[in-house]
Order: sequence, then structure tokens, then C-alpha cells
Amino acid sequence: MRFDFVTLFPEMFSAVTGAGITGRALSRGLVEVGLYNPRDYTADRYQTVDDRPYGGGPGMVMLFEPLRDAIRDARGSGDAAGRVIYLSPQGRKLDQAGLEALSRHSHLILVCGRYEGIDERLIQAEVDEEWSIGDYVLSGGELAAMVMMDGITRLLPDALGHEDSAQQDSFSDGLLDFPQFTRPEMIEGRQVPPVLLSGDHKAIERWRLKQALGRTWLRRPDLLETFELDEEQQTLLAE
Ligand code: ADE
Repeated sequence: MRFDFVTLFPEMFSAVTGAGITGRALSRGLVEVGLYNPRDYTADRYQTVDDRPYGGGPGMVMLFEPLRDAIRDARGSGDAAGRVIYLSPQGRKLDQAGLEALSRHSHLILVCGRYEGIDERLIQAEVDEEWSIGDYVLSGGELAAMVMMDGITRLLPDALGHEDSAQQDSFSDGLLDFPQFTRPEMIEGRQVPPVLLSGDHKAIERWRLKQALGRTWLRRPDLLETFELDEEQQTLLAE
């Protein structure tokens, strides 16, 4: 899968290219990354990428042409037709189902805005989908684009080691995760729940499911409005 980022701050992306699951996916060739700086697509000697908004108001708006030309170059870098994504608080809110849908594309071009945003006509002309990572305002789309890339990359076959499976993540079945424990068995008077030491796999699975349900009910009751136990989970709880 290929990710191209259109950004005034390409250096920020070392956070995903140089470390962790995304860095490993890149060095193993599971993903490719390209960086396109709209500043490189300017013609004037100040390399202007923004201007004041028509109608007045504070801040600056990113110019149409440098962004368009950067996106066009990014489109040409992949074999498949790239899907152009604009990150902004006005977009559709990202969730696990959204990441799964996005992971089915083989080429994403992630456009990162700065300042007050980009010229609306660029969204009309070049952008296929607009996504937000939550109801808060960041100072640019870069962190949002990296969140999106990270969330997608870990869904790609072979990106995770076989010990960590994306199928076991919270949200992949619509519930929050159950709590985890590791050695030692007792620390500062706090004991690992005995069922986890029992070796009884059915009992452990049942306990984990109950914990996940309980936590979801307490912390995110909204998730239970659409949640349904699958058959395996129903049998486990009935036994
Ligand atoms: N750019 C600024 N804030 C954002 C957000 N919440 N999601 C996506 N892109 C953004």
C-alpha cells in the first residue's frame, strides 16, 4: 500500500517512517511513503503557499495551485488511481470501521492543511473524501494523517507480529479491551486475577468477555447500542 502526504512539514513524518509498526512496515516493503511539499510547487521568489481569506477574517488560507500540483505529482507516483483524502475537523469522524474501509485502497494521498484551511475549490476539484480524527482542532492535518496511516498499516496482512493480532483489538468486535496483566503475580499488594493463572482457557475467555462487556457498559455505553454478541460469545456466557 502506498501513502503520499501533501504537507508543508515533511520532517514531521519521521515519527511514522522511522519507528514502530509503521517504520517496520516501510522497511519491509509492506508500505511505501512519499512526501510532497506544496512549497516546492510555487513559482514566486517567496515560495508563497497561502493568502488572506476573501471576505476577511483572521488567519490565512492555503492557495489552490501549489496544492493542486503537489497532489497531481502524488497521483502519478502510484500504479493505481490514488484516493485523495483531506484531513480536517469538518470531515467524517474516523473510527475502526472507517480505517478498515480505507485500508482496502492501494494508494492514499493524504492532504494536510495548515492555517485556516485550504481553498474550498481544491476540495471540490481534487478531494475524494474528507475525514476528521475527532471533535477538536489541531494546528494542522499532519498528526491526523499520521494517525490514519498508523491505524491502517496495522490492519495490513503481515504488518503485526503474529503475537499481536488486529482481530483481538478493542473495537474490532465493537467492545473495549479487557484488562491485561503480566509478571509478577503480586506487586504492591495487587494480585493478578486468579482465573488468569488457572490454565482453564474457557474460564479465561469467559472472564475476558465479561470484563470487556462491563468496561464498555461503564465507559462507553453508546457502543452497546449497536453491539450484538456473536454465537460463540453467547455459548461462552451461557455455559
Ligand atoms: N486538522 C485540524 N484538526 C483536525 C482534526 N480534528 N482531524 C483531522 N484533521 C484536522
